[in-house]
Amino acid sequence: MILVTGGAGFIGSHFVLDWFDKNLNPNFHNQQIIVYDALTYAGNLQNLNAVCKEPNFVFIHGSIADRDLLAKTLYKYRPKWVINFAAESHVDRSIAGAGDFINTNIVGTFTLLEAVRTYFNSMIPGEETQSFRFLHVSTDEVYGSLSPNDPPFAETHQYQPNSPYSASKAASDHLVRAWYHTYGIPCLTSNCSNNYGGLQFPEKLIPLIIHNALRLKDLPIYGDGQQIRDWLFVKDHCSALRLILEKGKVGEVYNIGGNSEKTNLQVVNTICEKLDQIKPRADGKSYKTQIKFVKDRPGHDRRYAINATKLQRELQWKPSETFESGIEKTILWYLDEQNKTWLENVISGDYQNWIKQQYKCK
Ligand code: NAD
Ligand code: DAU
Repeated sequence: MILVTGGAGFIGSHFVLDWFDKNLNPNFHNQQIIVYDALTYAGNLQNLNAVCKEPNFVFIHGSIADRDLLAKTLYKYRPKWVINFAAESHVDRSIAGAGDFINTNIVGTFTLLEAVRTYFNSMIPGEETQSFRFLHVSTDEVYGSLSPNDPPFAETHQYQPNSPYSASKAASDHLVRAWYHTYGIPCLTSNCSNNYGGLQFPEKLIPLIIHNALRLKDLPIYGDGQQIRDWLFVKDHCSALRLILEKGKVGEVYNIGGNSEKTNLQVVNTICEKLDQIKPRADGKSYKTQIKFVKDRPGHDRRYAINATKLQRELQWKPSETFESGIEKTILWYLDEQNKTWLENVISGDYQNWIKQQYKCK
């Protein structure tokens, strides 16, 4: 039995879909999975269409800031594991207004931890308490920004968050750490680099660029485009999380990364080149002609890079995709006719308001 908070978002839904994949999780028939999600603009039940009719799938519509509903859910289903993906996750939105980030990422994580603490303390010590795990899914952004020659972030790197988003995630990581040390809740934390893949909301760089390119719109690059991110295919993040749940050491932190540093300009150029091959523009011009340098993001972190050797050494994890293979799969996913309805639904309504507001002065 596993409770997945935020399981209708981008990474959470991949985690759930992979849970039902018999090649990745041969025991899934015997396991119940409860997705608990507030369905904000970023949460989408369509992401879970392929599994929502499975007899061992349950969906609960609720916020991690709702203590009563959490308590009811925990006591009713008695999960062995809780994995927390629920968060406000977009840096630009946190700059436009941080309130939801404070409420969900900090107050919500606190509320979830308290509900889990009460539930954990109600267990009879023994097998149930020994196997219980709370895995908090966090980000490399809590470590701040690296200079070009700095070594990649190890788990011991100082916390130096620079955006309202990363500050709120840093606060949640500290709460998780404290609930382990003070109350003995069997917590683990993972800090991952930038994910990409299908089902990602097209406000983040990669899906936004694919989406705009195909609609012959500007491809907005903040500042000089030389900021570096360490890209990881979402399925590889999920495989790392499954290993951490199964074999990770309680109280530990694990960094997850793709060893794949790219500047934003390299990422955008790669997408344009792939699209030029797979779906050339009718006028024969390259998609690169749509690139537009726009006003930079305030407080924009220059470089992230992850040292994932602890995860590789202790849990024998390694990513299965390179950036080149992963980006091709991602582009093909967004081009696939079967995913058109998904895209049309997520870009209707509020999405248009966000894009107008975010890019109007850039
Ligand atoms: P996302 O924005 O796509 O999904 C977040 C999900 O959380 C949505 O389904 C949303 O409805 C839900 N949610 C939001 N507020 C909630 C609340 N109060 N209660 C319950 N559910 C709520 O995010 P994502 O990209 O899938 O990221 C998932 C987690 O992984 C986040 O914690 C994020 O910080 C972390 N992370 C993301 C990346 C990345 O590159 N996307 C990298 C590292 C870590
Ligand atoms: O590092 C992990 C983090 O990666 C996660 O914790 C966050 O949830 C996730 O959103 C992501 O944060 P970033 O800010 O790195 O991702 P984003 O896709 O917003 O931007 C990636 C880079 O591209 C960043 O340097 C900003 C730049 N960018 C982004 C957008 C949306 C542009 O140049 N133009 C754009 O229009």
